[in-house]
Amino acid sequence: MTRNTIKITVLENGIKESVETSIGEYRNLMELLKDKIYLDCFGECGGMGRCATCIIKIESLKGNALKMERNEPVTLARFGYQNEPNIRLSCQIEVSADLDGAILKILE
Ligand code: FES
Repeated sequence: MTRNTIKITVLENGIKESVETSIGEYRNLMELLKDKIYLDCFGECGGMGRCATCIIKIESLKGNALKMERNEPVTLARFGYQNEPNIRLSCQIEVSADLDGAILKILE
């Protein structure tokens, strides 16, 4: 395992999977999940932060990954998630070392 390896635990439909990537392999977490977990109807706006089809519940995020910018807070509020800091749009989370060790659940 190289220093740049990022390991994430993903819970989807009752199944727990361990996903590994490296920095620079994917632009954002939505693209990583879509590619590795084969999710239907996930990330429909292509990462614009508007459709909320990439919603996840995530724990153990750190550093810059905790910051919400641009459309994310507005879109989350539109779907009733304005007071839940662990609910995020995966397309708005950069794949960086801040993700290593995170545990996430794909929300319907
Ligand atoms: S892909 Fe549409 S909000 Fe994330």
